[in-house]
Amino acid sequence: MAKLAGNNAAITGGGRGIGRAIALLFAREGANIAVVDRDVSAAEATTADIRALGRSAIAVRVDVGHENEVAEGFHSVARELGDVDILVNNAGIDTTSRVVDMPTEMWDEMIRIHLRGVFLCTRAVLPGMLRRRRGRIINMSSQLAHKGAAEMAHYAAAKAAIIGFTRSLAYEVAEHNVTVNAIAPGPVDTDLFRKIPEDWRKRKLAEIPMHRPATVDEIAPTALLLASEEGGYYLGATLNPNGGDVMV
Ligand SMILES: NC(=O)c1ccc[n+]([C@@H]2O[C@H](COP(=O)([O-])OP(=O)(O)OC[C@H]3O[C@@H](n4cnc5c(N)ncnc54)[C@H](O)[C@@H]3O)[C@@H](O)[C@H]2O)c1
Repeated sequence: MAKLAGNNAAITGGGRGIGRAIALLFAREGANIAVVDRDVSAAEATTADIRALGRSAIAVRVDVGHENEVAEGFHSVARELGDVDILVNNAGIDTTSRVVDMPTEMWDEMIRIHLRGVFLCTRAVLPGMLRRRRGRIINMSSQLAHKGAAEMAHYAAAKAAIIGFTRSLAYEVAEHNVTVNAIAPGPVDTDLFRKIPEDWRKRKLAEIPMHRPATVDEIAPTALLLASEEGGYYLGATLNPNGGDVMV
């Protein structure tokens, strides 16, 4: 029996990397999928692969940090796919700079996409989840939220804030049968990780007991657990598929 049959899932940043792997795994488990991404051609490539699996899928062009785009994008999801049962807040970017040299714009853009984006997309789907007493929200953090890293203060700060948001929202919605949890992966072999300067990546992989990044298929099953019936007792938790980088 498919684990997500009868569910509609919206995956932000589902056009590539971890989000794409989650979208495909959820579809294989019976969910219909909205791929919400600012890169619409990447989102369309994911939806084509999902339709080939026999599920419904729509691509929606949204910058998750832009209030009007989020409101309009999630209206079209409701119209074209139906109510969202599962939201995966996964869209993200990566830049590097020491704090002493960091332009304010770099700081603001990181916080806007990661933190404002998680807030805006969550707020867009919450009224429906609370009304229907049914919902799962899964927020993509990072092991850098626990550990920090030089040249990534803006990223680590945003990812730590996502954990605080996850826990706080969990208190607000649990009695309405909505769960909120986070995933804090270690390095994952995606475009985002490959774009980081090579010396930074080498240092990072040297620190990790496994000395290798995860594949996207080693992260997506954690999202499936949190979205499925079997994951129903996780609340405000942060799950850590991180190759032993932070043993929590
Ligand atoms: N790759 C890693 O090493 C790693 C480790 C820990 C956490 N993460 C987190 O996992 C998530 C996914 O990362 P990934 O490695 O798959 O990245 P990726 O670059 O492969 O894919 C990110 C996707 O998000 C989309 N996106 C970026 N900004 C957006 C915006 N403002 N609005 C809508 N869509 C947007 C991109 O178009 C892309 O399709 C991110 O939140 C990232 O911070 C990644």
